[in-house]
Amino acid sequence: MRSRLALALVAVAFAAGCSQSPSDPLAERGRQIYLAQCTQCHAVDPSQSGPVGPPVKGSSRELLEARILKGSYPPGYKPKRPTNVMPPQPALAPEIPALAAYLK
Ligand code: HEC
Repeated sequence: MRSRLALALVAVAFAAGCSQSPSDPLAERGRQIYLAQCTQCHAVDPSQSGPVGPPVKGSSRELLEARILKGSYPPGYKPKRPTNVMPPQPALAPEIPALAAYLK
């Protein structure tokens, strides 16, 4: 029994080590939202190009707000793509801080 428990603990520790910010619940929530709402287009790894969307790692909260709530960009921001494919998802307004914590 003891060794099984030890094995389980090792597995948990390993899984935690692989995720990006295991200690930050806000970032973990952001990761869940990102996987559920963004990865149809953006890559599961936000630092990579996705099937449709560009990399979004390092996106500021300001950029996420403009993009997700209004489909726009912050003043003076130079978009990675000239297209306008991404649909705004204003219902995600309460999740912007979590997304920003995950993507920063
Ligand atoms: C239907 C596909 C689609 C979905 C869903 C989507 N995006 Fe996008 N996203 C795009 C595309 C395509 C672009 C490039 C600009 C454009 O064409 O709208 C983009 C651009 C962006 C940008 C701007 C990148 C830059 O620096 O220029 C950010 C940030 C972003 N997306 C974040 C998100 C987040 C966060 C979600 C989930 C809440 C999401 N996107 C959901 C397709 C999508």
